[in-house]
Amino acid sequence: MKKNLIYLAGGAMLACGMAACQSSGTGLTFEHQGDSLTLVHVSAPGKYLLLPIQESCGESQVRVETGKADDVTMDIRLAQDSVEYYVPLELPQGGNATVSVRKTPAGAICWTHIQLADTFDTGNTDYYRPVYHHTPLYGWMNDPNGMVYKDGEYHLYFQYNPYGSKWGNMHWGHSVSTDLMHWEHLKPAIARDTLGHIFSGSTVVDKAGTAGYGDSALVALYTSASDKHGQIQCMAYSTDNGRTFTKYEKNPVLTPFDGLKDFRDPKVFWYEPEKKWVMIVSADKEMRFYASHNLKDWEYMSAFGKGYGAQPNQFECPDFVQLPVDGDKNKMKWVMLVNINPGCMFGGSATEYFTGDFDGKEFTCDTKPEVAKWLDYGKDHYAAVCFSNTGERVISIPWMSNWQYANVTPIRQYRGANGLPRELSLYTKDGQTYVAANVVKEAAVLRKDTRTFDPVIRVKDEYEIGGIVPDNDGAYELEMDITPDAGGVAGFDLMNAKGETTKIYLDMKAGRLVMDRTESGLTAFGDKSEPHAKETDDHRKTMSVNYRNDFALGTWAPLSLCEGKTYHLDVFVDKCSIEIFVDGGRIAMTNLVFPTAPYDILRFRAEGGEAKIENLKAYKLGL
Ligand code: FRU
Repeated sequence: MKKNLIYLAGGAMLACGMAACQSSGTGLTFEHQGDSLTLVHVSAPGKYLLLPIQESCGESQVRVETGKADDVTMDIRLAQDSVEYYVPLELPQGGNATVSVRKTPAGAICWTHIQLADTFDTGNTDYYRPVYHHTPLYGWMNDPNGMVYKDGEYHLYFQYNPYGSKWGNMHWGHSVSTDLMHWEHLKPAIARDTLGHIFSGSTVVDKAGTAGYGDSALVALYTSASDKHGQIQCMAYSTDNGRTFTKYEKNPVLTPFDGLKDFRDPKVFWYEPEKKWVMIVSADKEMRFYASHNLKDWEYMSAFGKGYGAQPNQFECPDFVQLPVDGDKNKMKWVMLVNINPGCMFGGSATEYFTGDFDGKEFTCDTKPEVAKWLDYGKDHYAAVCFSNTGERVISIPWMSNWQYANVTPIRQYRGANGLPRELSLYTKDGQTYVAANVVKEAAVLRKDTRTFDPVIRVKDEYEIGGIVPDNDGAYELEMDITPDAGGVAGFDLMNAKGETTKIYLDMKAGRLVMDRTESGLTAFGDKSEPHAKETDDHRKTMSVNYRNDFALGTWAPLSLCEGKTYHLDVFVDKCSIEIFVDGGRIAMTNLVFPTAPYDILRFRAEGGEAKIENLKAYKLGL
């Protein structure tokens, strides 16, 4: 390391047997036992140790030592050469504590920067933090999970690392909302423990108290993941409306019968015709169904998925919901959501679905194995699952990223955002059943300012509108009806004065809606010396590098999913994302973009004919 131990010692050197000790004079003494172990002795009151982070460093193993068997080790990228930001490590109350740190050299810079504090500043420091999308206050977020509605509150739990803005130390983070738009951040609800990371899963309202924790207890089923125990399904319950969970003392409740390595993300739902709980779990390249009467004892029923859809990829994060076809409640169909990674159509992660029937035991798919249908045609829509207990409404929320570059996006203090909540419905087209995913109607509360334009705009070549919304800070919505000429290309560019542009257009000859982010702003990030996500075993653990061609591309969707010649576009822009919903969600497309200044120019374009733009509206959005 750059500095040596003696030079670093700001306070008195103490004698600690053979170990080198230093005290910073701030209630902290560092006892270095060589380079492999440091004991941090805390001798003054303080709620947190503020730990300095450097994302390119390897993980150190950090544990608050209370002497109990369930002390948990967290993997934290402690700064060795330079400090990028801090994360808080909560200390036991009382003023005296010992924290052990393994694998951080005695000369690392972190030892002079660790501080004892009673507060932790969560004020935003990221330019790209979305204005109206849900993000964690700090730290890393991936999948939404355990989402449930109860007593007027939507609970959004999520894969969360409180100890850095890269994947690791999976907890269930927690936010609540009464309108799906304004989120209150609460403390993590389920913390990593000695059985492993708390991976994705689901929560149900146990109305009849079948698990023995009282009527309407919240019961969460999740995957514990560790090298030691593998991936096993565990249970926890909450009797305080989801604020805190108690883990079931006999966990796990389900292990794979065949020792499968990838066996995770249980989704549980109540199957009314047989009055039983059903669990669907991703099991390598298929989904398995189990049944239970008490949420604790699970019996295998069937499996679906081998050879179906996009193959050969890892199935993850299932959901299984029932919806009326074309709004007809006498014609119900089941929809299986399957999140797949890697190898999806634009690279990396995406969400596909299958429609079909379920007899309480087995799922029968409507379509042939080779048919793949996608819930969203962007590159940043993943791990989408739905809320439990929302009655007839089925509301999904995606994580807005892609495992190819999720760990290296140009964001620091937090990393990871959710896409807007979407209401799912089924429609038929050409004899096939499809899922529409439309932004929920609650998004209307975000509209702060409306700008209207001429009712009809005819675009021959180019038509430019500057200053899309007043005081543009990159958070707005555009609504319009576009009618391109047959065989032409019609659409618009979202641009800033620097020329950074995302192109959105309907290519009538190819029959495609395209969103092209090749020149959208920052398109290459990460450190090229690090291994690429695809080259390592665990896509989550790597410092995945975005090679330019992973990010700088266009995504497209088939216009054949829509009817007619006029297309209604609802476009949501928020600092670093664009979501498009066409014709009530028949096409949804979600992509990250990183313009270095807000897009404030809307330039319509038409080639090979004229385009008609009607009912154009621009809304400034905010919370
Ligand atoms: C999907 C996923 C899940 C897993 C979680 C871990 O993005 O890989 O399968 O539960 O992330 O954070």
